[in-house]
Amino acid sequence: MIDGLRRLEYRGYDSAGVALVAPGAPLSSAKKAGKLVNLVTELEENPLPPATAAIGHTRWATHGAPNDLNAHPHLADGGQLAVIHNGIVENFAVLKKELLADGVTFLSETDTEVAAHLLAKEHAATGDLTEAMRRVALRLEGTFTLLAVHADQPDTVVGARHDSPLVVGLGEGENFLGSDVAAFIAYTREALELDQDQIVTITADKVSVIDFAGEPVEPRRFTVDWDAEAAEKGGFASFMDKEIHDQPQAVGDTLLGRTDIDGRLILDDLRIDEAVLRSVDKIIVIACGTAAYAGHVAKYAIEHWCRIPVEVELAHEFRYRDPVVNEKTLVVAVTQSGETMDTLMAVRHAREQGAKVVSIVNTHGSTIPRESDAVLYTHAGPEIAVASTKAFLSQITAAYLLGLYLAQLRGNKFPDEIAEIFDDLKAMPAKIQEVIDRGGRVREIARWMSDTSSVLFLGRHVGFPVAMEGALKLKELAYIHAEGFAAGELKHGPIALIEPGQPVFVIVPSPRGRDSLHSKVISNIQEIRARGARTLVIAEDGDDAVLPFADEVFWVPQSPTLLAPLLTVVPLQIFACELATARGLDVDQPRNLAKSVTVE
Ligand code: G6P
Repeated sequence: MIDGLRRLEYRGYDSAGVALVAPGAPLSSAKKAGKLVNLVTELEENPLPPATAAIGHTRWATHGAPNDLNAHPHLADGGQLAVIHNGIVENFAVLKKELLADGVTFLSETDTEVAAHLLAKEHAATGDLTEAMRRVALRLEGTFTLLAVHADQPDTVVGARHDSPLVVGLGEGENFLGSDVAAFIAYTREALELDQDQIVTITADKVSVIDFAGEPVEPRRFTVDWDAEAAEKGGFASFMDKEIHDQPQAVGDTLLGRTDIDGRLILDDLRIDEAVLRSVDKIIVIACGTAAYAGHVAKYAIEHWCRIPVEVELAHEFRYRDPVVNEKTLVVAVTQSGETMDTLMAVRHAREQGAKVVSIVNTHGSTIPRESDAVLYTHAGPEIAVASTKAFLSQITAAYLLGLYLAQLRGNKFPDEIAEIFDDLKAMPAKIQEVIDRGGRVREIARWMSDTSSVLFLGRHVGFPVAMEGALKLKELAYIHAEGFAAGELKHGPIALIEPGQPVFVIVPSPRGRDSLHSKVISNIQEIRARGARTLVIAEDGDDAVLPFADEVFWVPQSPTLLAPLLTVVPLQIFACELATARGLDVDQPRNLAKSVTVE
């Protein structure tokens, strides 16, 4: 159980807990605030007895502070029933009132405890945990994955799923439930996808699934395409460091198998009628966090190649602003986890309005691809560090493939032009490797700057989202003020922030691209340098024009302008990772964050 929780801890690490059942024994449990290591220490000091079935949880707090009492599991039925929960029970206040009136005593401030006591009530009425769970699921509003064990059924774990993730792992003489396959990957790669609104009951040798109406359903089986080793640090100091080094392969693997023998792009997994794709008159990219910055980068390329207007919208803003979406809109949902609740809700909203949805997703067996019209998988492998790196690069790559495919289909580009860009893309993994190999100087500067209190990032064109991503990385990992600006916007306000010694990263576009773009950014560097900024410049090999104005230059190999983000973001990832490490912070699990945000 602890091993599984360790692999899932990136999803939340405010507290952790387990509950165990065994034949003829009372239920036993333990829980502790803080990271999993606190629970491990507690279990070493006070071991629990052997068990036949168990549930375990790591929490990202929504209702109630992250303390021991609010940690899951929550117990009911005199401590003989235990429940863990992901999501939010939105009608918990009404249900709590009802239970209080029945004389139930609550120990925590969580919404989850309501589900535990309701389950105990239904279990007492039915004598069967599965039927009890089905009845409870029908009463809960909001989003939930619930798992429960009861001392009376020591061979059984029951789960319910409504808009929160849950997958089944099929072992031999053992079965598993997890928020994602990472939980059981060390034991089996065989898995079952559950749908929304289903109840699953597992024992050591049986898995049965019913829907909320009680009808049996046949879940789809799949095999996970990576193994436990891919989810290990492999000798690196952190998962983030490892994942930065995985990037050449992540981009290369995302490009694999995308052309036919004539060199034409084939996106097998893009199962939307070609006539529909030809009639698309607007693309809206929806995503959150780093994935949204990948969408911003993609906008420049897709508009340029396909001549289709592209909007990029944060998923949580999209749904609530009454967006203009119809059958001619193609919505592209970008998400590493495939589970981000804001993105899932935006996907549903877009489809209700008649739009077709293509999702760009890294995690097989996740929810968003199942609810999309088509999916383009990135092949980045498991991303464990909370701050996204290799997923970002592979999302840009996949979005570019989509753009090129649309350009091919709609005749915006000649086949040889597409083949040329595709060849440029195929050259990127080796160039990314070169940027990583040159990372020593960035690390050195990052260590020197470990006590800096603010860093600004400037970029123009595709360099603008890279600047915002560089700032996000620093904020989330090092907890210092960081902001990314469009370099041209500088003079409209942000330049007031510049005072002597202020460090500013500037991402300089290729001088071989559009002339004016390069020279405008050079002017911007001069403007901030004149006001005392310390300029840290990311520029292409051979761009000597930057030298007079740069306090430090981080060189990247030459590449076409639109592909440059795959290179220029890498020094910024390394910078944030190293600076946070130098400050003694945990780069894999930054405070307050979770990797997969499954609440709205
Ligand atoms: C969280 C993570 C970010 C990630 C974002 C979107 O905030 O901490 O790293 O970029 O969610 O996640 P997704 O899985 O949808 O790409």
